[in-house]
Amino acid sequence: MESFLIKGGVPLHGEVEISGSKNAALPILAATLLTDEPCIIHRVPDLSDTRFMVQILQSLGATVRFESGTVTVHAKKIKGYADYDLVRKMRGSICIAGPLLARLHKARISLPGGCIIGARPINLHLKGFEALGANIKIEGGYIDATAKRLTGNSMFLGGRAGPTVLGTANIMMAATLADGVTVIESAACEPEVVDVANFLNAMGADISGAGGPTITINGVKKLHGAEHEVIPDRIEAATFLIAAGATNGEVTLRGARADHLRAVIDKLNEAGVSVERSGTNLIARRNKKLKPVDVTTLPYSGFPTDVQAQMMSLLALAPGISIITERIFESRFMHVSELARLGAEIEIEGPSAIVKGGKPLSGAPVMASDLRASAALVIAGLAAKGATQVNRIYHLDRGYEKMDAKLRKLGARIQRVEEK
Ligand code: EPZ
Repeated sequence: MESFLIKGGVPLHGEVEISGSKNAALPILAATLLTDEPCIIHRVPDLSDTRFMVQILQSLGATVRFESGTVTVHAKKIKGYADYDLVRKMRGSICIAGPLLARLHKARISLPGGCIIGARPINLHLKGFEALGANIKIEGGYIDATAKRLTGNSMFLGGRAGPTVLGTANIMMAATLADGVTVIESAACEPEVVDVANFLNAMGADISGAGGPTITINGVKKLHGAEHEVIPDRIEAATFLIAAGATNGEVTLRGARADHLRAVIDKLNEAGVSVERSGTNLIARRNKKLKPVDVTTLPYSGFPTDVQAQMMSLLALAPGISIITERIFESRFMHVSELARLGAEIEIEGPSAIVKGGKPLSGAPVMASDLRASAALVIAGLAAKGATQVNRIYHLDRGYEKMDAKLRKLGARIQRVEEK
């Protein structure tokens, strides 16, 4: 297995290009199953998660080409069940269910496993499919969804932690070919959901309200092929903004969308990391001492749960007490024990982590556990004195395109090595 070997203490300086959004690209690639015509998707990040999705589309019978950020998919004839071994490896694969149900009126998907940040239930996805008239059977670790026809319906899709991002995308995709009108209440408002809706409308769907809590889908008979460019990855952008602040550097992000990052930019400014827009670029620099801040993760447009771990690394450097409360997932503090190995003082109290920041961090070997926790460990290693080895960085390769190369370009001393 591979590791990152980081020699910390170097302020990051320079420009970095933000890649396309993983969390928009995955449902958009799944949406190409809705038509028998070719689709071309640009700015797809080259990650293990997007490569899994390509393999899943191919295992369903689509022909797929993935070359320098552009994916061409032609799902001329497809079958209704995906290879278990592939689907179980990635939670995001659940979003092929909606398109398969809409196109074939059947879908056989393995129940997505939980993952380290929580149980990851799909009850809201299934509630939406049933509202559209599907019969759902769960046995042997598989979901068998069938429907004579899909009929538009109104449904409330909010769960115990608020809206569901992939659940909203899944139901929206299924409803595009249903008979009649579907109204999703308590829909997720994330920019990735808007990007999926824009792609579906480019295919001839009739969707309005995406980005707000109520989305209306008027079913159509057929969808045609379309070409689309995926939005930039706001979580990758947030990660680099925070890395700039944590290393006391100055970094220009090319292609980031400031309007997708308002909560993050607001919190960073409050913590002493100034983030300014200049055209389509964002410039992050630490202009004064870091200050402790309180952060609570919320559904969009609140502070994103996918940036919680990275923010904790920054606040471990801010003298004083910061309280970070995780409201979306039940166990998303796996990075705390690893940050403690670098000298961070953090106590967990239920859904909150109390960060006693200000002590300098010093390098140590640490273990990545999930995608964003790994990013937090890289940020902490970049800020720590001495050497940090982040092991099991396959977690990181799932969601960050060429992160070590991008960081080296900003002056970081980071190498990808075989774990000894
Ligand atoms: C998406 O996951 C993202 N993944 C996650 O990013 C992100 O953390 C999450 O949205 C929240 O923003 C992709 O888009 C591929 P949810 P998703 O359904 O859609 C509960 C990353 O690091 N829930 O919005 O699977 C759920 O348990 C990943 O890039 C139900 O209770 O998340 C959670 O507490 C990690 N029932 C909350 O809702 C359901 O049927 C939000 O989950 C579905 C979800």
